[in-house]
Amino acid sequence: MKLVLDKISKSYGKNKALSEFSAELTPGVYALLGPNGSGKSTLLNIITDNLKADSGKIYYDGEDILKLGAEFREKLGFMPQYPGLYGSFTAEKFLWYMAALKGMNKKDAEAQIKEVLDAVELSDVSNYRISTFSGGMKQRLALAQAVLGNPSVLILDEPTAGLDPKQRIAIRNYISRISFDKIVIIATHVVPDIEYIAKDVIMLKKGVIADNAPPSELLRKIDGCVFRVKTAEDKVMDLQNAYMVTNILKDDDGVSVRILSDTKPTEDAIPVSPTLDDYYLHIFGESAV
Ligand SMILES: Nc1ncnc2c1ncn2[C@@H]1O[C@H](COP(=O)(O)OP(=O)(O)O)[C@@H](O)[C@H]1O
Ligand SMILES: [Mg+2]
Repeated sequence: MKLVLDKISKSYGKNKALSEFSAELTPGVYALLGPNGSGKSTLLNIITDNLKADSGKIYYDGEDILKLGAEFREKLGFMPQYPGLYGSFTAEKFLWYMAALKGMNKKDAEAQIKEVLDAVELSDVSNYRISTFSGGMKQRLALAQAVLGNPSVLILDEPTAGLDPKQRIAIRNYISRISFDKIVIIATHVVPDIEYIAKDVIMLKKGVIADNAPPSELLRKIDGCVFRVKTAEDKVMDLQNAYMVTNILKDDDGVSVRILSDTKPTEDAIPVSPTLDDYYLHIFGESAV
């Protein structure tokens, strides 16, 4: 199974949201990582045929997805960034409705609805109206409907927005577990959501791919460029003015500043292992925080 994105471009008026985006995707989790406004949703809406590209093509196993039409849509699960859920429906009724739209038969639908409700921990409230749900519950229901029907291509736009840490981890593990035989694309600006489950990270900066590599390779690129410097409180500002500071920790024995720099920032700076957060700042700069 292969999804090929070939030079996808999209502008809104004069604003170029996506410029010749190309990638080749095979089963596994891909992270589409970039700050707000970098073009993530635009790309995902184009892949799911909710938005028309200005130019470029998408091929699923060699066939143009626009020509495949319904045949491709049946293989697709999509969780939009702002999902429209029917407030007056119960969670279970909504999933039955989505199962019907996906053309699932009754037996499969019944088994899978139970399974996905369990997976996103909504079984207990499956008969409550969606309008009574919290943001996090709605988010989990949106994920459940995307996963329903066992899609080969699963597209998730900011799937953990509004979730607490425990729910984030549960959702992350669930996505990872079901991803082995699927092409999964997760758009996010939250590094920990994808750090340990993405086989490839596509960094998107103002509609252009800034980098595309496995996390370990990205980390290698800044190996030897991350330092910890112990300093006095009144020197922190100077370091921030001179260097890219990725963290400041004040504890009982002073201030510890994490610095991204090609060269050793101070005599007593200690090299430390880079994280994907460091790399994110390396690409997007401090303004991205
Ligand atoms: N419907 C729209 N009309 C006009 N501009 C849009 C529209 N959707 C997105 N944009 C602009 O396109 C750029 C990319 O947006 P988007 O794809 O939503 O980014 P992201 O999902 O990474 O936050 C932004 O500059 C945004 O303001
Ligand atoms: Mg978005």
